[in-house]
Amino acid sequence: MAPVQLRSMPRRTRLLLFAAVVCCLFVWLHPSSNIFGLDPQDLKLFTFGLSLEHHDVLRYVDPLIGTANGGHVFPGATLPYGMAKAVADTQSPAENAAGFVSDNNPVLGFSHMHDSGTGGHPSLGNFPLFVHPGCPDDDFKKCKYTVMQRVTDRVNGSVMASPGYFSINLTNTVRAEMTATQHAVLYRFGFHGNATVDVAAAADEPVVSGVPYSPLVLVDLSDLMSSRSTGGIRVHPEAGRITGEGKYAPSFGSGSYEAFFCADFRGAAIRRTGTFQGEAAAEEPKLLDNSKPEFYVPSGSVGAWIQFEAPPENRLLARVGVSFVSVDQACENAEKEIPDWKFDGVERAARSAWREKLSAIEVDATGVSEELLTTFWSGLYRSLLSPQNYTGENPLWSSTEPYYDSFYCIWDSFRAQHPLLTIIDPVAQTEMVRALIDIYRHEGKLPDCRMSFSKGFTQGGSNADIVIADAYIKHLRSGINWTTAYEAVVSDAEVEPPNWGLEGRGNLVSWHALGYIPWDDEDRNGTGPASRTISRGVEYAYDDFCISQLAAALGHDEDAAKYARRGGNWRNYWNPDQRDIHLDADGDVTQSRFVGFLQPRLRNGTFRYHRTRSCSPVQDMHSCYYDTALDTYEGSPWLYSFFAPQDMATLIGLMGGRAAFVDRLRYFHESGIAYIGNEQAFLPTFQFHYAGRPGLSSHFVREYIPAQFNASVNGLPGNDDCAMGAFSAFAMMGFFPVAGQDVYLLTAPFFPEVRLRATGGGSKTNTWAVIKVHGFDPAGKRKYIRRARLNGDDYTRNWISHDFFRNGGLLELWVDVDEGDWGTRETDVPPSYPPKAEEGRRGDGGGGGGGLLLSRVDE
Ligand SMILES: *[C@@H]1O[C@H](CO)[C@@H](O)[C@H](O)[C@H]1NC(C)=O
Ligand SMILES: *[C@@H]1O[C@H](CO)[C@@H](O)[C@H](O)[C@H]1NC(C)=O
Ligand SMILES: *[C@@H]1O[C@H](CO)[C@@H](O)[C@H](O)[C@H]1NC(C)=O
Ligand SMILES: *[C@@H]1O[C@H](CO)[C@@H](O)[C@H](O)[C@H]1NC(C)=O
Ligand SMILES: *[C@@H]1O[C@H](CO)[C@@H](O)[C@H](O)[C@H]1NC(C)=O
Ligand SMILES: *[C@@H]1O[C@H](CO)[C@@H](O)[C@H](O)[C@H]1NC(C)=O
Ligand SMILES: *[C@@H]1O[C@H](CO)[C@@H](O)[C@H](O)[C@H]1NC(C)=O
Ligand SMILES: *[C@@H]1O[C@H](CO)[C@@H](O)[C@H](O)[C@H]1NC(C)=O
Repeated sequence: MAPVQLRSMPRRTRLLLFAAVVCCLFVWLHPSSNIFGLDPQDLKLFTFGLSLEHHDVLRYVDPLIGTANGGHVFPGATLPYGMAKAVADTQSPAENAAGFVSDNNPVLGFSHMHDSGTGGHPSLGNFPLFVHPGCPDDDFKKCKYTVMQRVTDRVNGSVMASPGYFSINLTNTVRAEMTATQHAVLYRFGFHGNATVDVAAAADEPVVSGVPYSPLVLVDLSDLMSSRSTGGIRVHPEAGRITGEGKYAPSFGSGSYEAFFCADFRGAAIRRTGTFQGEAAAEEPKLLDNSKPEFYVPSGSVGAWIQFEAPPENRLLARVGVSFVSVDQACENAEKEIPDWKFDGVERAARSAWREKLSAIEVDATGVSEELLTTFWSGLYRSLLSPQNYTGENPLWSSTEPYYDSFYCIWDSFRAQHPLLTIIDPVAQTEMVRALIDIYRHEGKLPDCRMSFSKGFTQGGSNADIVIADAYIKHLRSGINWTTAYEAVVSDAEVEPPNWGLEGRGNLVSWHALGYIPWDDEDRNGTGPASRTISRGVEYAYDDFCISQLAAALGHDEDAAKYARRGGNWRNYWNPDQRDIHLDADGDVTQSRFVGFLQPRLRNGTFRYHRTRSCSPVQDMHSCYYDTALDTYEGSPWLYSFFAPQDMATLIGLMGGRAAFVDRLRYFHESGIAYIGNEQAFLPTFQFHYAGRPGLSSHFVREYIPAQFNASVNGLPGNDDCAMGAFSAFAMMGFFPVAGQDVYLLTAPFFPEVRLRATGGGSKTNTWAVIKVHGFDPAGKRKYIRRARLNGDDYTRNWISHDFFRNGGLLELWVDVDEGDWGTRETDVPPSYPPKAEEGRRGDGGGGGGGLLLSRVDE
């Protein structure tokens, strides 16, 4: 485990204490703010307790978690949902999707926009800066310009990362620090200051000694995935400004996007300026312009440079504005957001923005290890990196609606990240939903994946349907046009687009007529990768179920019935006779005790055999992606056979009842078939609840955290997608959402007390949803909930609804070392929704907990 450096900042203890006193006073003077009927004394105690042990939670944010081992986390300087995301880009094959990797590969530059945690090609990373302390023999032609030539090692152990800040030292003696605003980055480059420098590009390369100190900064039009087609760049020799643009490809989608930048420098006098094409640098021309047909700007490294006199303070500042609209707007962004060039001020503002966002949550950390606290807060932090707020930067259409990008991808984020934002930042989540709807208005379909203003690849269903239904259920309203929202989800369900690999759904004619996607379907309405018939099918079914809930709430009763029926289509893939045939450790064919799995079907109804374990860690893990032939996506039929969140009661019946279901789900987690590094495994960690065994969900949460989610640079089991951190944050707080339903499954928290600011009264409300653990045990042995009380009343359901987070309240949990009978009865489990016509065919498993998912509430 590599050492993790955190930049600790001075505490503002006095300020916090003052804030706490103000809070106490407020509660004291406004007892009516206590709208959920608690003794006001309790509230005062919470507030007071808080002031005693409140730390600056940013201390526990380590942005470097997940920067090795495939986490693909962006660890650089940014704001919540920030478009500017600055970091050192490393030349790390297959790993540098977010620019930087904690490995030994060299640094190729410092760039200003990235995507965090993704699984596609490296994203963005346009217009990297690179800094040489000087050029050999003081000849600018002898400096290295191209990506291939200029790469330089980092100084081991020199990386520092904290919210709003990133720094690294290179072996060429340059230190680079960076901080960011919403659309601009401020870099501070530090130099040793000797008249000559001994420069090494790498530890094992010869040192070039006696290089005269005269820094050269270059800007390259390249991006991380070398996708640039056109572009142009200009250096303004007097102003010392470099501006430019390029056209690039999105990292997991089709089409192209244009980006623009504007870089200014401070701290030293300009000596000379110029441009370069490949390794050929010259003082003229000052402009490489793609707009003139006679002038050809080749692909690869092309850019501009400025060489400076030795900076009097051995520092050079670079301010880079970015935009997707124009160079002018990039310059305006920089001038407006960083007018005074004060590095520490920009960093301080970024830290405040992060502190403010994270203040929606408070935990009592008594007895909790630094490691777990860091895992927790860092996961929350990462959940706020994306989608990115590109409002005002959309070149595709003009609109007064918000625009968010980097929905990367909703297939990943609908399960935990968006439900988390709904609780901790409902204002942002509402803007994101409005952005999705506006994308539908202008593109004709909701996205399933979208990055860099381009349509991304659809991994399974049209899961924005779930995000939209979830928003309605959880009372997000402000500015959302539900008429258009409903039109958008119905379009997903009814109208097949010509290319359903990029939006909407495929095989819809068969889906409507047969209730499944036949393996041998002939789709005349559109094209897309004709794979994943099982996994697309179960996702289409759940999407339709969510649409039925929205339809019912909006008063479209016939639609509600139709989509509820289609919501039951997952059962059409259930082959009750399918055995779990596989090879044992000796390579002999064997079968487990489990019978009945989802399987592909032909048009005539016959099942086709698909290995039950294919695409799991125990068999052919990497054989099922977007356009590979198999019938499941990034997971096995074993995994997808658990995906019926709308009707777990029926599924439990099909699997042979509660005991058999629990046996099977346990086996799934213990046999190595489950892979928690991909988002589909999140919910099955908690599905024991549906069989009346909430204790087992608590048990398995602790099997995965911290063993698979921890505070080391390799502390994520898979690429983050801004979702892994949402999973660990929910799991540690003691509840997990069933996205698309008003259900959170309760488990034992990792803290003695968790407080979430109630969402109902706007961000300034002083009402909290408080989860308090009696008998808390930091070692996690008392991991079973034995008894619960909600707002003073005994509470036996093993789940709660969103009202708790909306209105606030007090949930008390008593925990112990063994499983009791809390939450085990038929009436304690979360609701299931078997389609009406099929009600008589319910299995013998757990019963529905009842409860209306949606009622027609306020507009
Ligand atoms: C990085 O550079 C800074 C400034 O020169 C220096 O103070 C620091 O010690 C360096 N860090 C390492 C690990 O060399
Ligand atoms: C600066 O030069 C002095 C004298 O040559 C040398 O001892 C020192 O190590 C140099 N400092 C750096 C940071 O290179
Ligand atoms: C950093 O350490 C690694 C070994 O952990 C080594 O391979 C590499 O050369 C070192 N880099 C530098 C610049 O010293
Ligand atoms: C998103 O950006 C717009 C434009 O800068 C801003 O008005 C809005 O408040 C931002 N949203 C959030 C949640 O920060
Ligand atoms: C919502 O959108 C519909 C069109 O889909 C439009 O007719 C209606 O006026 C919009 N409602 C509001 C409140 O803007
Ligand atoms: C499929 O195409 C036919 C013929 O154009 C059209 O009538 C039908 O509505 C389409 N069905 C779907 C589900 O898009
Ligand atoms: C369905 O089609 C397959 C392949 O053509 C065939 O082997 C099977 O016998 C058919 N089943 C029925 C019930 O017709
Ligand atoms: C931390 O998590 C990673 C990724 O899941 C795992 O490989 C590693 O073993 C874990 N480390 C510890 C100390 O549990």
